[in-house]
Amino acid sequence: MTLDHIGIAIRPEHAALYKRLLSSTPYKAETVEREGVRTLFFGDGGLEGVAPKLELLEATRDASPVATFLDKRGPGVHHLAFEVPDLEAEMERVRDLGIRLLADAPKPGADGKQIVFLHPKDTAGVLIELVQSVRKAPEWVEISTPGGLLAVQVSGPADAPPLLVLHGALGSTELETDRLIRVWEKTFRVYGLDFSGHGRSADLEIETPGWQTYVDDAITACDELGLEAASVFGFSMGAAVGLGLACQRPDLVGRLASHGANVQWTDLEVEAMVGPMLALEDETSFWARRLEDVHGSGWRRLVESTVAFTRALPNAHLSDDELSQIECPVLISHGDSDRFFNVEHALTLRRSIPDSRLWVIPGLDHPIQGVEVEAFASAVGAFLAG
Ligand code: CO
Repeated sequence: MTLDHIGIAIRPEHAALYKRLLSSTPYKAETVEREGVRTLFFGDGGLEGVAPKLELLEATRDASPVATFLDKRGPGVHHLAFEVPDLEAEMERVRDLGIRLLADAPKPGADGKQIVFLHPKDTAGVLIELVQSVRKAPEWVEISTPGGLLAVQVSGPADAPPLLVLHGALGSTELETDRLIRVWEKTFRVYGLDFSGHGRSADLEIETPGWQTYVDDAITACDELGLEAASVFGFSMGAAVGLGLACQRPDLVGRLASHGANVQWTDLEVEAMVGPMLALEDETSFWARRLEDVHGSGWRRLVESTVAFTRALPNAHLSDDELSQIECPVLISHGDSDRFFNVEHALTLRRSIPDSRLWVIPGLDHPIQGVEVEAFASAVGAFLAG
């Protein structure tokens, strides 16, 4: 959670005081009629562009929540607002902590946000607001390839530096990386690639995909989208693809963040990955139904081809020598409770790649759904920004 703004209840005559005090004018005034409040926003973002704002609150009618607050306590600090990437998920987490919410569902608030307030009796007397910026739906770009269309989710400011995001095997951008992209798209132009046979690229015809199939997908996407020296984030298979891309096309990768990667698979590790895939033959299981949602009717073919792909991995590894050729800065992150890949693999990458650093995350298992979105995406984003 990041402090987004501090709300201060004022009487109308105090607006002028804040203008003089801050020697600034509000960048926005907005009335939220449903709540009986007029808001004035101050703040220039500070040196880093992310400093919290001030939200002055004036009552527009008697008996509105702010009018009641002013009657009881007079002008002063009214609430603290924290920005969260996924408001509904955060509401559930807060409920699990035994903290009451003042509404059952997010409501539209000022400044184009979705908001909810927590009960101040459960938060040491301080009224806390959780806010989530309303997101503009990302665009999808389709790239023609001989096998069909390769789909890329594009979001963030057009003039921001490019970030290519690569999901894991049997995953997709929507399923795995989109929650992180919501943070990164504030400062990057983000390209979330769906690999051949996966997600929105599910109709693409692939025989038995090999390691190079997915590296080629990434190369095609970069070449067609005109990406050069991009930042790249990859998870699991996507991370291994990112490392392969950095070896084969160093011109395309400016900085690389690799999470949950392994590029030197043993037969034992391969069987541990294949086991759950074979279990998907039970079509009624949660994961089988989820895969059908994500990859469409061809999901069985994808599972079969991924089993074959996975079994061939021990022949396709990147050697220490190849890794030592990677020139760009690389952040290697890894959960120390990863059920598939022992943290030793991350150490191997750290030792082999010259300009690399290692981040071991305590208690984290393999699935990327387990990361703390805000903290993880911010740390990785700061590394990729250089
Ligand atoms: Co507020």
